Formats: sequence, structure tokens, C-alpha cells
Amino acid sequence: MQRIERISQLRRQRADWRQAGLRVALVPTMGNLHAGHLSLIRAAAEQADRIIATIFVNPLQFGAGEDFAAYPRTLERDSDMLRDAGCDLLFAPTETEVYPRGRERQTFIEVPGLSEQLCGASRPGHFRGVATVVAKLLNMTQPEVAIFGEKDFQQLLVIRRMVADLNLPVEVVGAPIVREPDGLAMSSRNGYLSAAERAIAPRLQASLVAAVGRLRAGAGLAEVERETLQALAEAGLAPDYVSIRRRHDLAVPDPSLRGAEDRALIMLAAARLGRARLIDNLACDLESPLADLTPNLRP
Ligand code: PAJ
Repeated sequence: MQRIERISQLRRQRADWRQAGLRVALVPTMGNLHAGHLSLIRAAAEQADRIIATIFVNPLQFGAGEDFAAYPRTLERDSDMLRDAGCDLLFAPTETEVYPRGRERQTFIEVPGLSEQLCGASRPGHFRGVATVVAKLLNMTQPEVAIFGEKDFQQLLVIRRMVADLNLPVEVVGAPIVREPDGLAMSSRNGYLSAAERAIAPRLQASLVAAVGRLRAGAGLAEVERETLQALAEAGLAPDYVSIRRRHDLAVPDPSLRGAEDRALIMLAAARLGRARLIDNLACDLESPLADLTPNLRP
């Protein structure tokens, strides 16, 4: 595996691969890799002939008072993990390589509508920082396909929308959430948890599983959201939001839940636990209403 810091070197390798007719996949990360990240490398291997992973702790997506300085940086270990997983090139640029004129003077990309809600509401500017760095990484590496985890479901939709709105010539592929044996979604931020907090953390997923069961049994959206917020608080987490949305565009579903797009749902939650802010989500497909399945039998 090659390890590269400079955009100029990256471009040379990319040009060689293009000339050889090889299809390239990009897996952007902020490092401190775990099995969730490595699943993206495996997904990339199914999609392409060459895999580029990037490691860059992007200052633009951290708010004031967030964990940019404390974010775990484990480049040597990450590099070994990527090599063993079959990654071909690790691009790990410095901040000046990515933002040579400084963060404040960087041209940025805003994805309106999707960015201000849910995680964007409590992290203003976060998705602007994500969209901007992902657009830059796509332009630097020019992959045919880019892989993102569904763990950050809102991020995946923001990136899909950016790629569509800007006509970027890349296919965006989502990969399923990888979890610890007790259900906790793997995250670099799980390392912030104390032993006592780590024991509570799986309750986030457990509460989503229970909530989806209640939805399928016919409970109302607002009622299920309220119950889940309460269950999280009782478990000792400080919920930021619990929200049931349409999966394809994150819009609030019509309460009648009759249209197909209002029945392909996703339940998203974020909660603080000690120093960590945990996020998780769970898809929920409601069965089609009888009237939709059997239009000819309608009275
Ligand atoms: P990071 O948090 O390092 O995540 C990198 C990629 O790994 C993202 O696509 C994320 O969704 C995915 N991922 C993280 N945990 C996962 C899990 N448990 N299962 C499956 N996939 C998982 O997300 C970012 O970095 C940054 O915002 C980035 C896109 C790199 C832009 O800076």
C-alpha cells in the first residue's frame, strides 16, 4: 500500500490508473479505524479495481467546543489496518495541503434543506464542513465510486444530494452499520466512554429496535418518538433528538402513512453520554396498507 501526503503525488497515481483503465473507489475517513471502516474497504473492493482511503480529521466540520483537538489520531495503526484490508493507497494530507489559504478563506459547499435539521440543528455548520471536504476529496481522487456508511445516515444523504446537485461524476454507495456484539454501533467516539457509560450505550440501539416494533404494531409516530426519548433519558443518556423520517429524503412523513414514500421510514437518534455524542438509526418498512395492495377490492 502506498502512503501519500501530497495532492500532486496522488494525481500522478490516479492518472496512471486511469491510463490503465482501472476503476477506482474512494473511502473517506477521519481515521482511528475500526471494523465499521474496514467494512467500507471490503465494499469498495467489490466495486472497483483500486481502493483509495483517506484519513483527514477535518477541522471544518467540528464546531467550537467540539472534540477536534481530542479526536483520536492513530495514523500508524490505521495504516497497518488499511494495508491488511487490501487498500491500495492511503492519502493522509496535512491541514495546509487541504486548506492552503486557511479554513476561514475556503470556498464552501452548502446543501440546503438536509443540513440544518437533526444533527445539523445541534451542530451548526457541520454538514457544510463535511460537504466541502468530501467535494474536495472527490476532486483530488476522482473516483468512479465512493463508499459511505449508513451509520451517518444524514451525512450519506447530504453527500448524495451534493453529488446530484453539482453533477459530480461519481457513484455514491451506502454500506450497512457495523455493530459491537451488544448492538452498539461502532464509532471512533466510543473510546470516550467510561466503563459505566459503555455499559449503558447499547440502550441507544435497543430503544430504536423497541420503537420500530411499536411502529409496526401501529403506534403513532409522535407517540413512539416521545416514548423513545423517555426511554433514553431513563437509561441515563441525554437524548438530543429522536425522529422518524422518510428514508429517501429525511422529510417528516405524512401522518396518514399512506404513500409508499411515507412507509419506507428511518428512525434516527442522537444522544450524549459522558464526553461522547452517539448517533444511530434503524430502517423501518411499514407494510403497504391493504387498500394499496388490493386496489380492485376497494369498496
Ligand atoms: P468517520 O467518522 O471516520 O467515518 C468514515 C466513514 O465510515 C463514514 O462513511 C462513516 O459513515 C463510516 N462508518 C463509521 N462507523 C461506521 C459503522 N459502525 N458501520 C459502518 N460504517 C461506519 O464520517 C466521517 O468520518 C467524516 O465525516 C468524513 C466523511 C470522512 C468527512 O470528513
